[in-house]
Order: sequence, then structure tokens, then C-alpha cells
Amino acid sequence: MSAEKEGDTLCFFINGKKVTVSHAEPETTLLSFLREELRLTGTKYGCGGGGCGACTVMVSRYQPATKTITHYSANACLLPLCQLHGAAVTTVEGVGSTRTRIHPVQERIAKAHGSQCGFCSPGMVMSIYTLLRNRPQPAMDDITHALQGNLCRCTGYRPIIDGCRTFCQEADCCQANGAGDCCLDGEETLEETQREKPELFDKREFLPLDPTQELIFPPELILWAERAPPQTLTFRGERMMWVSPASLEELVQLKTRNPEAPLVMGNTNIGPDIKFKGVLHPLIISPTRVLDLFEVTQTPHGVWVGAGCSLTEVRSLLEKLLPQFPEEKTEVFRALSQQLGNVGSLQIRNVASLGGNIMSAYPNSDLNPVLAAGNCKVSVISNGGKREVPLNRDFFVSFGKTILKPEEIVVSVFIPFSRKVLNILTLNPVLWIKFQLGLDVSEALRLPGVIDVITAKDVPGQKVRKMFGYEEVLLAETEVSCVGQMICAVVADTRVHARRGAAAVKIGYEDLPEPLFTVEEASEKSSFFEPRRMIEKGNVAEAFKTVDHVHQGEFRMGGQEHFYMETQSMLVVPVGEETEFNAYVSTQWPTGTQDAIAEALGIPSNRVTCHVKRIGGAFGGKVVKTATLACITAVAAWKTNRAVRCVLERGEDMLISGARHPVLGKYKVGFMNDGRIMAADMQYYTNAGNTVDESPLVVEKILLHIDNAYNIPNLRGRGAACRTNLPSNTAFRGFGVPQSIMVLENMLNDVAMVLGHPADQIREINMYQGPSVTHYGLEFSPENLRRCWDQCKGKSDYAARRRAADRFNQDNRWKKRGVAIVPIKYGIAFAESFLNQAAALVHVYKDGSVLVSHGGTEMGQGLHTKMQQVASRELGIPPSKIYISETSTNTVPNTCPSAASYGTDANGMAVRNACQTLYQRLEPIRQKNPKGSWESWVKAAFFDKISLSATGFYRGPDLYMDWDKMAGRPYAYFTFGACFCEVELDCLTGDYRVVRTDIVMDIGRSVNPSMDIGQIEGAFLQGLGLYTLEELKFSPAGLLYTRGPSQYKIPAVCDVPLRFNVYLLPDSHNPHAIYSSKGIGEPALFLGSSVFFAIKDAVAAARSESGLVGPFPLDSPATPERACLACASPFTQKIPASTPGSFKPWALNM
Ligand SMILES: Cc1cc2nc3c(=O)[nH]c(=O)nc-3n(C[C@H](O)[C@H](O)[C@H](O)COP(=O)(O)OP(=O)(O)OC[C@H]3O[C@@H](n4cnc5c(N)ncnc54)[C@H](O)[C@@H]3O)c2cc1C
Ligand code: FES
Ligand code: FES
Repeated sequence: MSAEKEGDTLCFFINGKKVTVSHAEPETTLLSFLREELRLTGTKYGCGGGGCGACTVMVSRYQPATKTITHYSANACLLPLCQLHGAAVTTVEGVGSTRTRIHPVQERIAKAHGSQCGFCSPGMVMSIYTLLRNRPQPAMDDITHALQGNLCRCTGYRPIIDGCRTFCQEADCCQANGAGDCCLDGEETLEETQREKPELFDKREFLPLDPTQELIFPPELILWAERAPPQTLTFRGERMMWVSPASLEELVQLKTRNPEAPLVMGNTNIGPDIKFKGVLHPLIISPTRVLDLFEVTQTPHGVWVGAGCSLTEVRSLLEKLLPQFPEEKTEVFRALSQQLGNVGSLQIRNVASLGGNIMSAYPNSDLNPVLAAGNCKVSVISNGGKREVPLNRDFFVSFGKTILKPEEIVVSVFIPFSRKVLNILTLNPVLWIKFQLGLDVSEALRLPGVIDVITAKDVPGQKVRKMFGYEEVLLAETEVSCVGQMICAVVADTRVHARRGAAAVKIGYEDLPEPLFTVEEASEKSSFFEPRRMIEKGNVAEAFKTVDHVHQGEFRMGGQEHFYMETQSMLVVPVGEETEFNAYVSTQWPTGTQDAIAEALGIPSNRVTCHVKRIGGAFGGKVVKTATLACITAVAAWKTNRAVRCVLERGEDMLISGARHPVLGKYKVGFMNDGRIMAADMQYYTNAGNTVDESPLVVEKILLHIDNAYNIPNLRGRGAACRTNLPSNTAFRGFGVPQSIMVLENMLNDVAMVLGHPADQIREINMYQGPSVTHYGLEFSPENLRRCWDQCKGKSDYAARRRAADRFNQDNRWKKRGVAIVPIKYGIAFAESFLNQAAALVHVYKDGSVLVSHGGTEMGQGLHTKMQQVASRELGIPPSKIYISETSTNTVPNTCPSAASYGTDANGMAVRNACQTLYQRLEPIRQKNPKGSWESWVKAAFFDKISLSATGFYRGPDLYMDWDKMAGRPYAYFTFGACFCEVELDCLTGDYRVVRTDIVMDIGRSVNPSMDIGQIEGAFLQGLGLYTLEELKFSPAGLLYTRGPSQYKIPAVCDVPLRFNVYLLPDSHNPHAIYSSKGIGEPALFLGSSVFFAIKDAVAAARSESGLVGPFPLDSPATPERACLACASPFTQKIPASTPGSFKPWALNM
């Protein structure tokens, strides 16, 4: 048998260079080969499971039969290295680089500000690059399809689309509606809208796209494919053998002898199983070179499609056939083609095979129900011969099982011309969880490559971290209080060996007698992290006695996973002989990490230097939890005296590192007939999880924002952080404010519904006006809040849109349009005064170049660019002379976290202070030689023995909040904004599309408008995700189900509003921040709730058709399921809700 021969040599091309691997490891993916063997780290590891697109590469193959070269995008994280024999791979390094030549795709995405943290950018570039290789002048639809599988957590996608749009020919139309439609619906021309918005880039500066400059397909591979007779290929690895037969006969023989060996085609099912479930296949059969599996044959009754054809190929085949036949014959073709467009992403569809999809027998397969309903069948082959098997409900036995015999191979799939009735097929999923008893690391230690297992006993210093009087253990010793708590860490020579080691550690649990998961359970048992807080203005109890109406309600909001594209990552390197460590950490708080490592190792902080180059997104999730992980990594580095790297897999990251706090809000509101709210009493219960983290501060911030934009004369808020047995939650952009205001705004919506008034009127009547005072006694002027509101109404043409939506709703029964407009007043800076300080260090070198260091970290928000701008302005030199290398604790010590939208304010002042010192020192030199150049002054200063290095410091405002007195000045100022949104809702499915969004934001005099607009759009989209899309699901036993992009959906390119306008409020000044600017990182996130309220508005219109008026519950996120059920259509009403207690819910209601 061919499988018994010596291993073959794997040969393929990467970026035009030949790569030969003599002992190819079948378990290696292209991604790990690129990153770990070739050190081509431009291709990123975001999820490892094909769900994020960060690892996108272009694969090119020569087809000898047609003499054509095909290029397709693929996820390198799922591509088995062994499958690349004879292929040419292009990675981002092969496309262009700053060292050689930037490719037009890279240039345009960058110049359109489509890159913030940059982690997604190489994947985006590769998706568009591949598209352009196939279609140099794409349509807008092609662009959005190409980017379907590329997630970005920072930008809001608009700038990426704008950059890519410049490759399209259709200059006059945005094409955003797909199918060639323009989003403007003929209302106004694109020119009119563009006139009002700042030009963010100049298209004329772009390099032209010149296809002749691209890498050619290696001629050697063409010759090879033409001449080499097909022969079996075998690759032998540590635990696995890979055999790629060259003919169907050989394939049948192999499968007969090894019926349990899987056939790997696209590897999109087998790959994740190997990786995430630890499944081991000693033999893999790869039939991708068996031509019979790719044949297509037309018959009078339909078409036979080779089972090996990729889903993309099947779709284009169907699209080609559709116009050739009458409509009634092609219903199945059409249904299948439509479904194919929805399967995964383009990268997945390019490799996933039709046969693989069928044989994976997923209960949630998009294709199998259509194939079964369309009376399709498969032709299978085995040693016993050929047979045809119908793809009906008997075909699928259970999850992953079909009625085919293990040795049978699907050769092709028959898709018939349509007949009349379609049946629907469903499968039953099976899920189980298994626990083992006994704690044992011995097996792990015996595995190849495993060096050590670190437990709590190994921690030489403090084993716990203390916060707010509570202790959090680094590694659990005797008790674990949630699923996902860390117990030990396996140190190994490679990532693969470490994973195998971790899987081999045996841990036994005795179940906690009464675990608490929900806020209700925690409250009942008084399980809180103290202090609980209360704030009151006026006399709420008395006010309720005098109002026309009293209404009570509650609102539940789920948490949110940070989903920064770069997972928690760190490298700790022992250096020197004095117990010294260099920690390279993806953290928002280098000092916090430095201190934590020093405490864990029992050494002074001066022996630990924490370095941060840049961070692939953070959003609050890389402050506290990162330091804990860094401590464990440091202990491993200390114990083994070796450099240790820790990079969490996406699933582990989601499980371990916490999320935004889910909240239950209860409210009682008293109001008058004219809509004035006289009293409100609000209670917030946050689900803090098993450790305290920053939860008490989140509760405080919630209470400080319960007024949002409204002057409610009698206002009371109470807040509690519930201690539960879920993973500990942590800071997330907005730090409780998005939860706080959401409950309030929902309450306002209820008031509007009770009174039957438009919600915007209720908001307007109650909005702060004239000199105002918050419920904690802070005086401020709401003038800019009002201006944002009015301008937003004007720019969005609110009144006309409202009328148009009402008209649309009258004309449509099952589709409804909803509109909403919400304001935001967001407090900037830290109430904990010491956190507002910042420092900087600026060196001027003799050649005039300047090195700036400051305490803030660059995580995509553009802080370094803004600091460069500050230094440039203060020193009077171009930004090109200024460089920021990294943030490190040995250049700027005792830094505060980059958080609270305060990075630019604080660090900008510190950089300015240092630069002003230097500028003043140079003054005498400048006076002597006023016409001299910067370089000449610097040189003269050096010879004059003037120090060319200066520190800068900013003390920050002295803010405080006295919770006993319920008064204070916790914020330096407010950032204001308003957002209009319109959605169209399909009431039968709950599916919706954001038709239009208009944001007006007051950010003072922006230091960098392009960046700030990027922050606003990114935050808005993250808010849209929070309020309408992203859902964390836990099992009843507290296990997080949603541990990857397949289960947890963040906004993708298809979720961007069809029309998305952001305006900056003109003529706004802010005396409290650098150059009169305002902090902007967080405030716009809440504006995503306008989508929620627009959906709620559309739902209300649907309900009114069923005679239902008045307030109704709709929790956040308003997912399609929730929106559909809330519509209370006659169809959903036919399904009575199950009686609570009569069933076991599959997920927790946190
Ligand atoms: C990120 C991601 C998103 C996805 N999204 C969707 C989605 O939205 N909708 C959806 O329906 N699916 C989705 N999928 C599933 C995907 O469509 C399937 O995994 C894919 O079609 C399987 O094909 P494959 O070629 O990759 O199979 P492989 O992983 O290569 O093989 C899968 C199984 O099929 C068997 N097999 C393959 N070919 C044959 C054959 N010719 N004869 C007999 N057995 C065979 C193999 O032995 C193996 O057991 C998604 C997958 C991923 C990773
Ligand atoms: S890393 Fe490959 S798709 Fe996410
Ligand atoms: S820029 Fe896209 S993930 Fe950060």
C-alpha cells in the first residue's frame, strides 16, 4: 500500500518562493507554518477556527484540464499544510510592505483610515487583493461579499469599505443596498451628502492598481502539473499520517482498509474537531486530487455535481445554469444558490466541499434541509460497488452521522430540477458534559515537549491579588468558583505540545452545593461585592404622591464579550542575574502588570519592565485580567528560567477573561400628563461573577449616569454588584454607562408608550436646559447637548423620516420601519483623582530626531498619532521627525491605565509639558540664530551643554465623589452627542436592516477628526452589537457556550448601516482638555442603542396591528428571535409560552 512507503517531500510556493518540506507534519496548519516556521507573522491568528478572517491568504492553483489558474481566499488556520502540495500561496508579505512597496489595497485601506489596531488589516487586505486578482474592477457587492468573513472590532467597517470602494467603477452610486441599488432611494444625490462631511482622504493621491505588477503563478508548478504523472502522496507526522491518493480506485481501496479514517477536503469540519476537541485521527485521507470527485454532468432531470466541488464552485455552477432553464424547473437550484450565499464566509465556501457539508451532518447545516427538501440524492462508491442514496430525513441519523457505511465515499450529488412541494428537515443535536475525578498532572508531564506544570504552590510571592478588600487567587488551589477559573498552566516547547499537556491534566471537582448564577439568585442570598451604592436627589417618595401616572418596569441586558481581535498575549523573559524580567504584554496598563508580576514573584517593581508596543484591540478587557495572566506567565518564566509566552486561544479567552457586566434594571417612574418626569427610582443589579475585579466602580459609574441627558427633579438610584459563580466580569468600553443609560432610556420609552406620545418628545421635554446641575451636584451647561440633538434631528430629517416610516407601516403588514433618536451625555476622566495623572519623557537626539515616550498605550485608538501631533505642534517640527517606539515602565513609570476616554487628555498634557520644557531650553539658541534650522539649534544646544531630554507631567483635575454625601465632581467635563436611526424589520422572522444612521457628536476641537470619526463609528457598531446582536449564553451549569465567532456574533460588514453619516458639532470648545478637544473613545457606544429603540418602534407598529398598545418588554440584545416574538404576530401567538418550571431551560437567564 502506498501509505506504507517513506514520506514524500511536500513542495509548494509562498510569495513566489519555492518551499520544500521533507517531513511535513499532517497536524500543522498553514498558519502555524507561516508564523512559527517561516516567521511570516503578517498573517494573524484571531480565532483559529475559520470565523474571523484575520488569517486570510490567497491560494492559487493550476488546473491542467482547463489550463487555467484559479485564485481564491482561504483561512490559513484551517488549511492543512499537506494539502498545499503544488499550490502557490500569497500572504500579506507577498502583496506589499513598507520596506519595499505598498500595494494599492494596503495604501487605500490605510489612507481611508480603515486600520485602527491593525490586527484585522492583513486579512482584509488579502480578501480584497484576491478579489482584485479575479476581478480588477469589482462591483460594490463583490467588495462586501469578499469582506463577509473578515471581522474588525475597531473601525465600524465604513472606512475599510470606503477605501476598497475606490477600486469600483460605479463612481456615482454607493451600491450599499446591494443588487446595484443606491442607498439614497433617489432622495438626494450623493454629492449633496458628501458636501457636508469632511473629506477624509484624497483619491487622487492613490497609487493606481496595476495587475501587471502582481506576482506571477510559478511556471514550475504549471510544468509540474502538466508533466508529472499523478502519484500517491504520503506525509508522516508525530501522531498522524496523511495519504493523498491519485485515483478513485486507490481512494476506494484506502477507505476500505481504513473505514474510520476521515476524508479531508476543506478541513472545515475535521480541522476544528482536531484543534478544539482534541480528536486524533491516526490516518487522514485527502482525496483532493481525485478528479472523479469534481466532475459535473448535466442530465435531462438535473445535474450531478462532484462531491469534492467547493461550495463556491457549486454556487457559480448553479448561477450559470439558472438562466438556461425556466423558473419552475430551477426552484431547487435557486433555493440552494441562495443558501450557499449564506454559508459561512467566502473563505470557508472557497474550501468547504459539498460532500463534506452533507457528510458532516450538522443539525444546523444550511444546505442539508434544502437538499433533502429538493429530493436530492448522492452517488456513493465502496469496494462493494456504486449505489444511489436519497438525501431524505432517513439519511441523517444524528449529529455527525448518516446512514452511509463508514467505508462509503460520496462521489457526487444529484440536484434535480424542481418539483412542487418542499419538506423541511430537522436534526436533533446532542450535547453532553463529562467530569472526571482526581487531580493528576503526571500524564501531562510525561508527554513529549511538556516542560513543567505550574500550580499555585509554585508562586514564590503573593498567590492572590487584592482589590476592594477582596482576594483573587492567581491559580485555584482548593476551590474553584466558576467554570473557566485557572488551576494550573502547562509549559511546553510548542503551542501544540502545551495544548496536549493541558488536555492531559486530570482535574476532579466536587460540585458546589448551591451555585449562584443569576442576579436574582445572588440577591436572594445577599451575595454581593460591597459596597453597594445609593444616590438620591430631591425626595422621590414624596414626588410619587403628586404625579399623574406611576409606571413600573424592568429591563434585562446581557453582557458583551470584548472580542478584541488579538487575544490575551504576553511574553515574559528572565534577564540578567539579579532576578530581572522583561514582560512584553498586550495590556492597557503596563504599570498594573509590572506591579502584579513583582508581587507574584516577591521581587521589587524595579526588577520588572513591562513593554507594550501596540495592542490588537482591548476595549477595557486588557486592564485587570491581563495582569493575572501575566503573573502566571512570569511564575513559569521564573521557575523554568526560560522565556515563556502565553497566547490564549479565542475560546479560552472568551471563557477566562470576563466580559461586560450583564444587568437587571428595575424602575418606577412618576410623570405628568404632558410627559414631564417628576420622579424616578432605579435599581441596578450587575452580574459581577466570581471575583470582584472593578465591579464596585462599574456600579458607581452606573449610578453617576442614571440621569443621562435629563433633568429629573427627584431621582434615586441603587446599585449592587452581585457575586455569582460565573466567570468574573471586568471593564468594557463605557464601564457600566451603556447599561445604566439603557435602562433609563427604556423607562422613557415606556412613559411615551403609556401616554401615547412620540418618544422623542418625551426625551425633549425632560432634557437638561440652561445652566444645569446633575443629581450629584455637578454644574454644567447642556447647550452643546441640545445643539447635538437639534442638529441630529435636522441632518437626519427626523420629522420627514418619521412620517415616511408611518406611511410605510400603513402600507405593509409584515415589514415595519422604526425610527429612534437618542442623546448621550458622557462624563470624562476618573472620579478616582490619582488616575488622572500622566507623565512623558521626550528625548531630542543630536540629529534632530525626537523620541517621545508617554504612559498611554496604543490599542487602535490612535493615541500615539495624537501624541506625535502634540509634540509636533509644541516643538514646531513636522511629525515625521517624531517617533514613538513603545510604552514601557522603565521610560515612564507609575502610569495609569489607558481607559475612561482619558488617554489623549492626560498624556497629551504630559507630552506638551515635556515639549514646552525643551522648547524653552532651546529659546536662547533660537534667539542667537533665528533663521537656523531645528537641526542646527539642537546641535548647538548639545555643544552648549543643554539637556535635550525632558520629562513632562500632568497632575490632572482633582476629581472626587463623596458617596456618603451623594455629591461630588467626578468628571472633568461631558462629551455630548445624539444619534438617529431607522430600521426595517421583517416581523415574520425578526430579521432587520439598519437603513440609516446619523450621528452628531460634540468632541470639542478635535485633535484629529479622521481618527475621532473612526472612534465614533467603531463605538457605534460595537454598541449596535451589544444591543442587537451579541449574546453570551451559559449552560444551566454555568459553562459558557459561546466560545468563538461561530457561536458569538459580533457585527460584520453586512451590519453597517446602509447610510451612515457622522457629523462633528461645529464651534465647540472645551477648556478642560488639550487644545480644546474632548475624549471620545467610549461615549458613542451607547448611541448603538438607537438601533434597539428603532427596532422597538417597528415592533410597536407591528403590535398595534394586533391591537396591542402600550409598554411591552423587549430585553437587550434585541436579537431577531426576540424582535420576532415581541411582534406578537398571529403566527407566534399560536405557540403558547411554556409554563416556567415545566421544563429545564437550555441556557441561563443571567
Ligand atoms: C467558520 C465556519 C463557518 C461555517 N458556517 C456554516 C454555515 O453558515 N452554514 C453551514 O451549513 N455550514 C457552515 N459551516 C460548516 C461547513 O459548511 C462544513 O464544515 C463544510 O461544508 C464541510 O466540508 P469540508 O470539505 O470542509 O469537510 P471536511 O472537514 O474536509 O470533512 C468533513 C467530513 O465529511 C467527510 N467527507 C468529506 N467528503 C466526503 C466524501 N466525498 N464522501 C464521504 N465523506 C466525506 C469527512 O470524512 C469528514 O468526516 C461552517 C464552518 C466553519 C468552519
Ligand atoms: S484565525 Fe483563521 S479565521 Fe480566525
Ligand atoms: S482595526 Fe480591525 S480589529 Fe482593530
